[in-house]
Amino acid sequence: MKALIHNKTIVLGVCGGIAAYKSVELLRLLKKEGADVRVMMTRNAQAFVGSMTFEALSGHPVCTNLFESRGDASIKHIEWAEQADAAVIAPATANIIGKIANGIADDALTTFMLAVTKQKLICPSMNTLMYQSKAMQRNLEILKSDGCMIIEPSAGELACGTSGPGRLPEPPDILDRLKACLTSKDLKGKHVLVTAGPTREAIDPVRFISNPSSGKMGFAIAKAAEHRGAEVILVSGPVTLSDPLYIKVIKVQTAEEMAETVFSLAEQADIIIKTAAVSDYRPKEPAKQKIKKGDEEMVLTLQKNPDILRELGRRKKDHQTLVGFAAETQELEMNAGKKLAEKNLDIIVGNLVNHPGSGFGTDTNQVTLFFRNGDKEQLPAMEKEAVAHLLLDRVKELLS
Ligand code: PMT
Repeated sequence: MKALIHNKTIVLGVCGGIAAYKSVELLRLLKKEGADVRVMMTRNAQAFVGSMTFEALSGHPVCTNLFESRGDASIKHIEWAEQADAAVIAPATANIIGKIANGIADDALTTFMLAVTKQKLICPSMNTLMYQSKAMQRNLEILKSDGCMIIEPSAGELACGTSGPGRLPEPPDILDRLKACLTSKDLKGKHVLVTAGPTREAIDPVRFISNPSSGKMGFAIAKAAEHRGAEVILVSGPVTLSDPLYIKVIKVQTAEEMAETVFSLAEQADIIIKTAAVSDYRPKEPAKQKIKKGDEEMVLTLQKNPDILRELGRRKKDHQTLVGFAAETQELEMNAGKKLAEKNLDIIVGNLVNHPGSGFGTDTNQVTLFFRNGDKEQLPAMEKEAVAHLLLDRVKELLS
């Protein structure tokens, strides 16, 4: 299964601002996801980035002029408006925002925007005072009430030498919001609690027991749930991934910290998905100072950690759906099935973590879903994002 944006037609509008260079990176990310991207540039945008760059990367002629003729008699701004699954304007200047909000159509991009009926994502980027002006905020409110999604600009140093909100968000964040635009909100009103990443159990102040979980699988589930309209809380062990947008992220280190946090949040959750790779044991008495090298052998006494998922299964309420993961190296069906029953789960997602393209650290995962009623669904290797959506589809079926 391919990523959400695969084969979607996206029209990228580029306006005249210093951040126009970031649209090139956005185009590259969209193409990497398999989108068919058409680019429209305003006249001022061409002063910042050449249309040839967008043409080469998108594989399509760039539309820069309402009346330009390419000899095929097509009217690009109408044709593209009919074909687009979504339109994103990045960067969107004060000028274009003012025009779109008020229905002015005096160039290719503004005329196109008037004709698009699908999702529209506007990414303002300008000087802080311009962004905070009453006229700009009024125009953004109009656009929101017209159904456009607006991404708040990020704060930081601006091209004009000042500092404050006005920077174009980074392209991965724009891509994330575009995916949210394109996803139906079938989990609206649901509270979803996800755990991700490894735990770290201290041996001494500089050493710990852990595992190679990167957090990618859990973060993908949290993002997919947020894109589908859920209120999401993500409890994560130490990972290097950036916090996903619009998700409350709580960072923990140890299994005991994860247990305490999860138990305090579990009651409010409708759906709990435990993707985290929790250490089953921790050193019984972590040393207060760094352990010095000594004998040829040393013995470390370990103590069992709380089994968070088992306890959640014991406390499970009627309205809750509880999903666990099973990281196995053999006998997937037997081992996952045992955990499903013992931990009182609705679904367990089994993955063989010693297979290439599956498990720890990879962008893909090959999983089999085992259901409480004995059904199982074996899936091919897919992007973790696609696994996340498929899992949420199945959870939704159980909810209904
Ligand atoms: O993070 P990535 O790099 O993307 O890798 C993804 C993954 C391989 C970590 C993920 O797909 C996965 O398999 N997660 C479960 C890892 C695990 O700890 O499996 P387990 O079979 O040991 O545990 C079974 C379940 O019990 C898990 O849901 C786990 O969160 C939970 N558990 C385990 C031990 C414990 N003390 N408390 C728990 O809650």
